[in-house]
Amino acid sequence: MNVYDSVRMADVLAPHGFVSADGPVDADMVILNTCHIREKAAEKVYSEIGRLRLLKRDREAAGERMIIAVGGCVGQAEGAEIIARADCVDMVFGPQTYHRLPEMVTRIMRKAGTRIVDTEFPEEDKFDHLPEESAAQGTSAFLSIQEGCDKFCTFCVVPYTRGTEQSRPVAAITAEARSLTAAGSREITLLGQNVNAYHGEAPQGGEWGLGRLIRHLADTVPDLERIRYTTSHPRDMDDALIEAHGDVPQLMPFLHLPVQSGSDRILAAMNRQHTAADYMRIIDKLRSARPDIGLSSDFIVGFPDESNQDFADTLRLIREVSFAQAYSFKYSSRPGTPASGSEYQVEESIKDDRLATLQQLVHAQQVAFNHTKAGLTMPVLFERKGRRPGQVQGRSPYMQPVHAEAPERLIGTVATCRITDVLNNSLRAEIVTAETVSERADA
Ligand code: 5AD
Ligand code: SF4
Repeated sequence: MNVYDSVRMADVLAPHGFVSADGPVDADMVILNTCHIREKAAEKVYSEIGRLRLLKRDREAAGERMIIAVGGCVGQAEGAEIIARADCVDMVFGPQTYHRLPEMVTRIMRKAGTRIVDTEFPEEDKFDHLPEESAAQGTSAFLSIQEGCDKFCTFCVVPYTRGTEQSRPVAAITAEARSLTAAGSREITLLGQNVNAYHGEAPQGGEWGLGRLIRHLADTVPDLERIRYTTSHPRDMDDALIEAHGDVPQLMPFLHLPVQSGSDRILAAMNRQHTAADYMRIIDKLRSARPDIGLSSDFIVGFPDESNQDFADTLRLIREVSFAQAYSFKYSSRPGTPASGSEYQVEESIKDDRLATLQQLVHAQQVAFNHTKAGLTMPVLFERKGRRPGQVQGRSPYMQPVHAEAPERLIGTVATCRITDVLNNSLRAEIVTAETVSERADA
């Protein structure tokens, strides 16, 4: 989401003469787009500001200016505190106010010493004020369809930093998708903090859920070969969406569905509103609809009061599902969230041990999943040149990175490939059809 927001910030500033700089040294303005999800991410902001302060001083010594801005969720959460702690920061804004960037920049340019904090949740919709045209994002693009979250998991800052759930209208999403594919994108990842809670205004009135939206994009957006969506909540995995996995060919057979824990006691304390068995039922339904689907998840270890038994339940769930990949984190206490006040915080060394155990298991599953693809033929979307000359790099339907010796003209197209080798974190392939699937679709 932050990558997408950064692209949109550049879009909103482009008509005002700003172009992206290669790095901070020559920049007239530096925007840090920040993440508040865990303490480590939030801390990085201050060390980064420390580095920028020196660059700003050098530029000012040479008679030039450098505006330093902090955007994103740390800006949202710590607005005035950042201004007080870091005197080199000129402005702070949150994820819902970046459409006002030109106005903020103008005010700062006009009067030396002006400092701005804009972290109100605005009445107007940011998306109504962003340019329709967006800079090209390349073969694989992001598109935000939903923002915010009403779930209030007890560990999570998102409902406070991103605000309540909001879905964009189907027509606006379709228009943005068309402009992305016209600019060369072949894959679109639909984004939202709780993307499958999507309930946007339909073209003929009423509301559509995510399953219906995906069908509409698949049917009406030219040259859209692949659709993905992230991040989902198990509670919102409805039958229409699961069915779409079974019969929309453009919807890729890979799903990131965070479960966080396999212990019902911890799931309840996290306010996840489902049990481990509920999660398993969803996985079964998904696999019935699309037997080859690759699954990914997020896990938190060391949530307050997590016992050895709770952690063993998480490992059991992981064994039962068998994931294609997963992200795992040590619980990080976040200010203002209900769990942060718990007196039963888990010791850091226990969190470290659990994280290592969990990651070892998931890694073994990832390697095993990759090996199930050896020798198979599958479509690969090539996105860029590979690391070695003569190589191109892309992704399998299951999100695995794939390398092949092939001409550069295949970049931006889907080609049929045979997987020849399974490496640690990627697959090697040979091209089966020089004629690409994209070209055939046009014929
Ligand atoms: N501590 C650790 N991990 C967290 N996440 C969210 N909040 C916290 C926290 N306080 C993880 C969850 C979520 C992912 C985006 O980040 O696993 O799914
Ligand atoms: Fe955070 Fe996701 Fe829970 Fe919402 S559903 S509170 S974004 S972890």
